Amino acid sequence: MDRDAAITLCREKAEKETTVRHLISVEGVMRALARRFGEDQDLWALTGLFHDLDQDQTQDDPDRHAHVAAEWLREARMDERVVNSVLAHAHERYRTDLMSKAVVHADAVAGLLVAAALVRPEKSQGMKVSSVKKKLKEKAFAPGVNREEVTSVEESIGMSLDEFIAVGIEGLQSVAPEIGL
Ligand SMILES: [Fe+2]
Repeated sequence: MDRDAAITLCREKAEKETTVRHLISVEGVMRALARRFGEDQDLWALTGLFHDLDQDQTQDDPDRHAHVAAEWLREARMDERVVNSVLAHAHERYRTDLMSKAVVHADAVAGLLVAAALVRPEKSQGMKVSSVKKKLKEKAFAPGVNREEVTSVEESIGMSLDEFIAVGIEGLQSVAPEIGL
């Protein structure tokens, strides 16, 4: 599936524009992480883009979350590695490889980075690792972001927190024009 088709699928399934923007932000972070690991950038990007595909249908039903998306993706003959990683972002038992672990951290850091960009006049431009780390420590800032899913990145996928945030910023900046950041 090429990117245009993937974005079309996101727009078809997501009911809120904020959901589409969140999906694109995680796509950007996943692509940057894949580049850092020398992995398949398009595959990782699709995982980011689809991880919350059923968010607006399953927000009150955490058990079904990601399973509905997996069904849609299988109907679309999506690569099974992407399907597994989409399931993995919400359900621990699917976290079986690097991509399926990385999406958990990418999801959390993208939430933090988007929130941080929204309160800056320059948005994501010129964003610094140190200021993001400060926001990470401020519990009242973007309280919906799971801090533990950001800080556990080192033991989970073997990347230092500083490098992870730097790659995350890069990833967000790569999609920023598309999501107004
Ligand atoms: Fe998400």
